[in-house]
Amino acid sequence: AGDYDLVVVANRLPVDRVEGPDGTPSWRRSPGGLVTALEPVMQREDGAWIGWAGTPGEPPEPFDAEGVHCVGIGLSAEEVEDYYEGFSNGTLWPLYHDVIVAPNYHRRWWEAYVRVNERFAQAAAEQAARGATVWVQDYQLQLVPRMLRRRRPDLRIGFFNHIPFPPFEIFAQLPWRGAILDGLLGADLVGFQRPADASNFLRACRRAMALPARRGVVRLPDEGDRQVRAASFPISIDAVALDELARRPEVQERAQEIRRDLGDPQYVLLGVDRLDYTKGILHRLKSFEELLADGRVQVGEAVLVQVATPSRERVDQYVQLRQDVEVTVGRINGTYAEIGKAAVHYLHHSYGREEMAALFLAADVMLVTSLRDGMNLVAKEYVASRYDEKGVLVLSEFTGAADELGQAVMVNPHDIDGLKDAVIRALHMPAREAGRRMRAMRRRVREHDVQRWAASFLEALDGLGDQAGTAI
Ligand code: G6P
Repeated sequence: AGDYDLVVVANRLPVDRVEGPDGTPSWRRSPGGLVTALEPVMQREDGAWIGWAGTPGEPPEPFDAEGVHCVGIGLSAEEVEDYYEGFSNGTLWPLYHDVIVAPNYHRRWWEAYVRVNERFAQAAAEQAARGATVWVQDYQLQLVPRMLRRRRPDLRIGFFNHIPFPPFEIFAQLPWRGAILDGLLGADLVGFQRPADASNFLRACRRAMALPARRGVVRLPDEGDRQVRAASFPISIDAVALDELARRPEVQERAQEIRRDLGDPQYVLLGVDRLDYTKGILHRLKSFEELLADGRVQVGEAVLVQVATPSRERVDQYVQLRQDVEVTVGRINGTYAEIGKAAVHYLHHSYGREEMAALFLAADVMLVTSLRDGMNLVAKEYVASRYDEKGVLVLSEFTGAADELGQAVMVNPHDIDGLKDAVIRALHMPAREAGRRMRAMRRRVREHDVQRWAASFLEALDGLGDQAGTAI
């Protein structure tokens, strides 16, 4: 057994290894919401974090970053292709997001997934102290709970799925569905974003495994009637930190500067996403293009800023999406822009927290139009940044966030006419109504922040008492 009472196991470390043009390595905060969510908890608990450094090759020696003890897992170039780009992001990601694009099923990818999951489980088994809590994160590591329980039946094992869990009719396509469910059932507690995800999982256990699964509990007759709990724990953000950041004078100045640089338009619309086909970026662009064509918004009066963070750039569907987005932005600007007046500012970069806060403050309307999204933390970040209680959030009903942010202007992004009307409604919303909605959403995000998310998951795991950590 190792030294750590709390071990987080995630595909990525909280920091990525990046190489400069001259080959000098440095560390940069990892993409995605996971780091943002877990970093505050880990800093407090003094735990160990097991993950991959984001590039192929030998793992780095264990090191401390931002108050977290980091233990690297090495992946070969082939494993990056088969486990990460392949099974995780070419099979599971599209399958779990309502098959927006077709998942690919390759046995070679599956074999790599099994092998790499074993490696993570082994590292966790080595780091965890006797009776420790191990918290496994997300779809890349669904086999780890079972693999870990085999090695270390003394541990308390939690799993949290950050992305949706699909309806059984879709999940049933997966050739390895039984193995995935068995992997997850190695945990004592399996957490999901929405109640609907938890019930999809329970139903899959009944249908694919013929297990008794009801009222949030799966019973395992072959394991002495061990119980696995499934429940929802909607993830959140560090709302106070973001509020404080947005109030800083230099951030406010930057927000004003952004508006000036955009040519002082009346309306700034903003989209912030990883460049991913789940985010509905093309639907958003199409509705904006049609609003310009209809003359319901004018260039110079309104501008759309689209931050599209580079993501999974070697996966086919992401290459295709980037092309489609860039052709669409080019067409919109080619048709409607004037000298010094762009219709769309497309930014294929990732930005630091300060610049993001300034962008949120500069935006009159925030557009979140995901076709499917486990939670969508950007929606919560926008709300948390708006200490001035201004700004309107347009939010897809297919996000987990829609369960909590009922005062947003809700949209079905597939309904382009509905989306256009929602954008217009957001642009013209009276300040008093916008303020009332924003206040209610801010209260929600402030009360249900990431500390509360982590605490409630860990308390639920802890509260399973003697039941948890039972040997097979
Ligand atoms: C989503 C997933 C995370 C993932 C992140 C970034 O938020 O739930 O597990 O880390 O996207 O994607 P990437 O493939 O770059 O890690």
